[in-house]
Amino acid sequence: MRISVIGCGYLGAVHAACMAKLGHEVVGIDVDERKIADLSSSKAPFYEPGLEELLREVQDSSRLTFTTDMAAAAGSDVHFICVGTPQKKGENGADMSYVDASLFALLPYLQEGNVVVGKSTVPVGTAERLAGLVSEQEPSAHLVWNPEFLREGHAVSDTLQPDRFVYGVPDGSEDHPAVGRLDEVYSAPITAGTPRLVTDHATAELVKAAANSFLATKISFINAMAEVCEATGADVSRLADAIGLDDRIGRKFLNAGIGFGGGCLPKDIRAFMARAGELGADQALTFLREVDAINMRRRTRVVELTREICGGSLLGQRITVLGAAFKPESDDVRDSPALSIAAQLQLQGAVVTVTDPKALSNAARRFPELQYEPDFASAVQASDALLLLTEWAEYRNLDPYDLGSRVSSLRILDGRNVLDPAKWRAAGWHYRGLGRP
Ligand code: UGA
Repeated sequence: MRISVIGCGYLGAVHAACMAKLGHEVVGIDVDERKIADLSSSKAPFYEPGLEELLREVQDSSRLTFTTDMAAAAGSDVHFICVGTPQKKGENGADMSYVDASLFALLPYLQEGNVVVGKSTVPVGTAERLAGLVSEQEPSAHLVWNPEFLREGHAVSDTLQPDRFVYGVPDGSEDHPAVGRLDEVYSAPITAGTPRLVTDHATAELVKAAANSFLATKISFINAMAEVCEATGADVSRLADAIGLDDRIGRKFLNAGIGFGGGCLPKDIRAFMARAGELGADQALTFLREVDAINMRRRTRVVELTREICGGSLLGQRITVLGAAFKPESDDVRDSPALSIAAQLQLQGAVVTVTDPKALSNAARRFPELQYEPDFASAVQASDALLLLTEWAEYRNLDPYDLGSRVSSLRILDGRNVLDPAKWRAAGWHYRGLGRP
């Protein structure tokens, strides 16, 4: 099939490459000329494992091109909208200006029987509104809402082998003509057994908001347990192992630590609350305020614990922060808890150095006042305290004996609970985890 993908960020660039991998002829369209220039030469504009290799593979076969010209969408059967919906400045709601602008730019190029597929995370009610605009322009065209569930760091495999597909069509019916078209697009994973659910527009939009809210709630739940563990001397990691063995609960997403960040969970729960408020259903989601508050409290807790392990004052203490990305295998620093903690420590008088294998240039753009050191050995040299805040494999596998000879004081705060406390203590370190004795 001929496919256009509008918006080539974290979602769209991966989606375009994966659709070409599935055998389609794809054009990726974005207003950002630099991004398009990078992608055209098979360079990923952000770090995502496997993406550059995939771009090279599908571009060698000429199935994938990139352009800034929306006219290139003309002639495609299916148009995916993959632009961002960031949090509005000073408000909880989602900024819909990129979705609206991309749809308006696409409308003149729609042709008979085309299917427009929304993948961006949007407030419930958006699909119905956009469907009206699509059918006004081209009555035979359809709009489907097909939320995306990929995780950064696993984006390629999550797109090629997702857990499920959700198609939101106006009447929620399997017989809607757009269902068959989308089945053709995803024919390889569907044949391989990926479940596919057809719903109405609103349900499909809500599936995405509900899934991310559930994940955020699971993380804040275990972080709330960490607070109680801290008050009692119990161990939240063992608690998570034990409750996670109940398969109704499950162990995934029960890692207590500095909390969730990134470009999705924090802004999605806020946008969901804002939308529920507009719909008069705000009471249903007041618990998400608590989820958000627990999450934010972790960051303050880490600042306090750092002060404690530094002997009561942060003034002049040389702190090395290991990790700037919001999670490993990503260079994304949007709402990164690690960077937010680093900035708070610096404001309170510590001398902070941040290191990260991939995210330092993005971090420096967002927090130019912090000091960044790409070389690990230089970053930890003469450090008074280490804070492990993003669990990259190289930090999880650090050798406490080797590291001990390079720092100035043997103090480590494990913000992701990924180190073995007994091993670090045996090597002479003052080890602190979160919610661990
Ligand atoms: C999240 C969802 O997991 C995806 O399903 C969804 O498609 C995506 O948002 C989106 O809406 O686009 P992502 O933001 O890539 O994906 O990251 P996650 O793997 O969900 O991690 C989010 C944050 O939670 C990270 O900061 C991570 O460190 C933290 N986390 C995760 C924990 O603190 N504890 C855990 O047990 C798991």
